[in-house]
This record gives sequence, C-alpha cells and structure tokens, in this order.
Amino acid sequence: MPTIFTGRVVAGPRDERAALLVFDPGAVVVEAGRVAWIGPREALPSTWAREAFARIDAPLVTAGLVDAHTHAAWVGSRHEEYVMKLRGEGYEAIAARGGGIAASMRAVEQASVESIADALAARLARMASLGVTTVEVKSGYGLRAALERRQLEAIARVSARADRPRVVATYLALHALPPEARGSDAARAAHVAAAIALVAELARAGLASFVDAYVDRNAFSVDEARPLGDAARAAGLGVRLHIGQFADVGGAELAAALGAASGDHLESTSRAGLDAMARANVAATLLPLASFVLGQAPPDVAAMRAAGLRLVVASDANPGTAPSESLPLAMAFAARLYGLSTAEVILGATRNAALALGLPDRGQLVVGAPADLVAWDLPHEEALLQPWGVSRARLVLRDGAPIHEASRVDA
Ligand code: NIG
Ligand code: FE
Repeated sequence: MPTIFTGRVVAGPRDERAALLVFDPGAVVVEAGRVAWIGPREALPSTWAREAFARIDAPLVTAGLVDAHTHAAWVGSRHEEYVMKLRGEGYEAIAARGGGIAASMRAVEQASVESIADALAARLARMASLGVTTVEVKSGYGLRAALERRQLEAIARVSARADRPRVVATYLALHALPPEARGSDAARAAHVAAAIALVAELARAGLASFVDAYVDRNAFSVDEARPLGDAARAAGLGVRLHIGQFADVGGAELAAALGAASGDHLESTSRAGLDAMARANVAATLLPLASFVLGQAPPDVAAMRAAGLRLVVASDANPGTAPSESLPLAMAFAARLYGLSTAEVILGATRNAALALGLPDRGQLVVGAPADLVAWDLPHEEALLQPWGVSRARLVLRDGAPIHEASRVDA
C-alpha cells in the first residue's frame, strides 16, 4: 500500500547553479520502496488522494542523508588523545609516538570480525537515527593485510542488513605504517607493495567498491599512492583519496590523474590542484568536524566554488580527528565554520554525496528513485544547519522501509 508524505518537501537540486527544488506544501508518494510521485500537494493525482492510503504529515521532508566519508568500523576509544589535543599537542606528534591510527590498529588486532561488526552496526543505528540512509565505511585500522580483511569482512556483514543504512565499503589501503614497517625504507616499500597486492583479491571477493590512501606529509607520497590507484582501476574499483589535510604534496593532481571520485579534506591544497580536480570531475569532500577537532583554518571554499568543484560534506567519523557520528553536526559546521550556503550543505550531504559514491539514483527524491527519505521535526531546511546535537528525524526510510522511528516525546 502506498504511503503519502505531505509537508515542505526538498526534492533535490533544481538546476546547475546548485539551488534546491522545494515544494511547499508538497507531497511524496512512496510505493513498493520507490518514489511513485512527487510534486506540489495540490497537484497530487486523485488516485493517490484517496483516504485509504497511509498519510504522514511532517513539517519537512528531504532525501535521506548520505555520509560519503567515514571510518565507522573502528573499535576502542582514543579519548586520551583528545585530551592531549586539548592541551595543545599535535595530531602528527601523537601519531609519531605510536598513538593515532596505530592505536586503533591495536584495537582491531584484539577484536573479532563479530565484535567489529557489532560496533559498526550499533554506530550505523545511531547514524540512521540522525537521518542518514547511506554511509561510506573505510577499513584502514587493520594496516596489515589480514587485519584489513578482518575489518572489511565486518563491514560486509553489516552491509547485508536491511535495517541499517546502506553501506559503501572502501579499502583504505595506505593509512599508516604498522610497527614492523617503520624500521627501514625496504620495510616501508614492502608494506606499500603488500597493500597494493591485496586490491585484486578484495575486488574479487566483492569486499570493497573503492580504494583510498592518505596522501600527505607524514603519511604516504604521490609515488606510493599512484600504483595503488592504478591497481584499483585495473580491478574495476573506484578511487577516493585523503589529500591536503596538513600539507600539499600533490594529492589533488594525483586524484585528477587517477580519475578519483573524490578528494577529501583539502585544507592545504593549491588552486592549481583544485582546478585539476575540477577538470577531471573529482568531487571535493569537506570534513569540518576534523578541521574543528584539529583546530585548523577552513579550506579555501571560495577557490573551490571558483573552480566549479562539486562540494560534498561528510562526517569523517573516526576515533581520532573526528570523534563523532553525526553528519548533521558536520553540516552545521560546514555552514557556520566554512560558510557554505543552505543549498550547498544540503546537496553536499545528499545528492553530491551520492554521486561521489557512484550512486546516481540516490540522494534526491525523483519519480522512480529508491525511497530513501527523512521526515524531520523541523520547520524548514534552514533549520537543518543548526547544531542540534540530538536527533530531529521523526521517520527515516531506506528503500521505503523504516530504519528509524522517533519514540514520541511528550512536549
Ligand atoms: O580522515 N587523516 C587520516 N585519516 C583520518 C584520521 C584517522 C584517525 O586518526 O584515526 C582522517 O582524519
Ligand atoms: Fe578520513
């Protein structure tokens, strides 16, 4: 039986200038998991207006949010590092002492596939409660081949669940060096080679759709990441890269050369690099929770707009630089700290995010698209920019089925 949603409906992009298409009052008909009709309420065909159909009135209806950059398959906690950062210690200095990503690796080493999957499933349920219907999840805390596989197997288990947001899995192949790869150039080269060798096997097993690398100072070089990107392409996988978080080492140009779906972070990226990304149609993924936690200045959003880059806003959910699970909070920071407009924030967390994950039928409400939809307890899409810190999602549908329903709270 169809369900009819009525209220202020934000359908998606209106035009190439990144304006929003809004119907107010609008209506959306969901039937058999898809959007069967959408438009102004007064234009709702009489076949749908019959009283027998379920009807949900909500102040605001949007497409489900899409979080296009997370490390959500982590286990353990790095709260002591957060306190070190509060005292002024740098992220890279903490990592150099064996903290950071290596600390999360030790937690993965102690964990089973099952316990990683349990942590991820619980996290994804909380993300769904915030209005998120699709989540990109990276490995990258295994570092060694067997442990990377363990993380990806846990991600695969959770992605089979229809009661959680849809998962897009990314093999984060080059994230940090495990202890045994730190001693010499040869050990480092062996680590990079082993990480690259795993790509084809993971692709065959269907365990990843994308490959990622952290290309930065104190991380991996363009020369190390390029053959990884080539291996990903050869295996039929997409590429996304962490670039320019601390220094510009040429990551944007590499993302362009590899035809990456997205270049992420970008706090330190040259105009020439941004232009190269735009020419190659690489999306720019902004991670304002990470730059907030690290106390960094915002990336050059004006230059990104001038270059014509498609902007994506994501949480970067991870236990170190963005210890949060909230895409809505990242959206609030993108507006307040980065100066993104309402339309840029909403498209960055819906349509542009879906495109950057290779999901052309997601992130907008159009006839025939899968019904990933949120009914919000908010009066207007501008209210989505406020840093609520709590769920304002009344009902969240994935493929037409609820993955979150708010329990009624008496006013
Ligand atoms: O996106 N910079 C590299 N990777 C992550 C942080 C991972 C971690 O510290 O656990 C990021 O910020
Ligand atoms: Fe990240």
